[in-house]
Amino acid sequence: MKDINWSTLGFHYTEPDYIVRAAYHDGAWQEPYATRDKYLHLHVSATCLQYGQEAFEGLKAFRGIDGKIRIFRWRENARRMARSAEGLFMQPVPEELFGRAIRLALEKNLDFVPPYGTGSTLYFRPLLIGTTPRLGVGPGRDFEFVVIPSPIGPYYPGKFHCTSFIVNRYVDRAAPLGTGQFKVGGNYAASFRATEAAHAMGLDCLFLDSKYHRYIDECSAANFIGIKRSKVESRKSKDVIEYLTPKSSAILPSITNDSLMTLARERGYKVTRRRIQLEELAEMSEAAACGTACVISPIDRVLDPERNRTYTFGSEPGPVLSELYRALRDIQFGRAEDKHGWTEIMSQ
Ligand SMILES: Cc1ncc(COP(=O)(O)O)c(C=O)c1O
Repeated sequence: MKDINWSTLGFHYTEPDYIVRAAYHDGAWQEPYATRDKYLHLHVSATCLQYGQEAFEGLKAFRGIDGKIRIFRWRENARRMARSAEGLFMQPVPEELFGRAIRLALEKNLDFVPPYGTGSTLYFRPLLIGTTPRLGVGPGRDFEFVVIPSPIGPYYPGKFHCTSFIVNRYVDRAAPLGTGQFKVGGNYAASFRATEAAHAMGLDCLFLDSKYHRYIDECSAANFIGIKRSKVESRKSKDVIEYLTPKSSAILPSITNDSLMTLARERGYKVTRRRIQLEELAEMSEAAACGTACVISPIDRVLDPERNRTYTFGSEPGPVLSELYRALRDIQFGRAEDKHGWTEIMSQ
């Protein structure tokens, strides 16, 4: 194992020994190979540089309590990357090739898989770029698929805690029929003006829908979830707990959100995906961002300075989201049975 201080790693790049690459030329994918070279020799007119023909993914490998390494739902990432590729007129990476590339990246960097108990994980950043030189506007015919592994630190090095958000009203991240549903670099570049301004205030950014600026879309790199509790007369004193998450054509279908919805249903919670008006935050008892990096990042308050409103959810993570956070982490670290077959145990 590498001599790394695993518990102080942040969400930063640590140079791995190998990356994995596979090229698409003359209508065929080449077999993935591992290389120590972290640089690409790209033509200056490559379509990824000229026209943003680029898509990426993010997934993790976890060293479990039993010492085994588990990769979480990689097939879902492969499928989402294929949809992103089609969205940008790129050649999709075949699912099995995606899996082989991830396994090879893991095998070649086993020393970078953080030990159990540190909270750190091995993150994989698959990347697909158009490499054909073109000056006229149009898509390329050649592509490069790269998997970049990097150990990353626990999202919550201390205890599970809350973050604060600000409502963004001056930058549209993705159009309703645009590329928000795909994981492509352009969406993130388009959000930097808003996210950097929020970060400068010590806040994260909550994006509204681009058409009406009325409904919650998502966070800059995470979906939004809210919890509503309501009393139902017929059920005596028992609360109905509702897991709410936005339905929008401009947001990324989060694999974490999908997993949490399944876990929420199993616990008897009502799960609803629909348009959510910003003002509905006032009726929620808990709110959070969710994604691969953080699993769940509970929100303590959402500021909306333009409307002179602040929505508050308490300074400590709420019970429902804390329970779902633990449930998902337990599956990822092999502490709970993986009934859904979400993890693939890799050889060591
Ligand atoms: C814009 C955006 N939304 C949502 C997510 C969460 O998706 P996932 O749970 O698949 O990581 C991410 C992170 O990948 C993201 O970048």
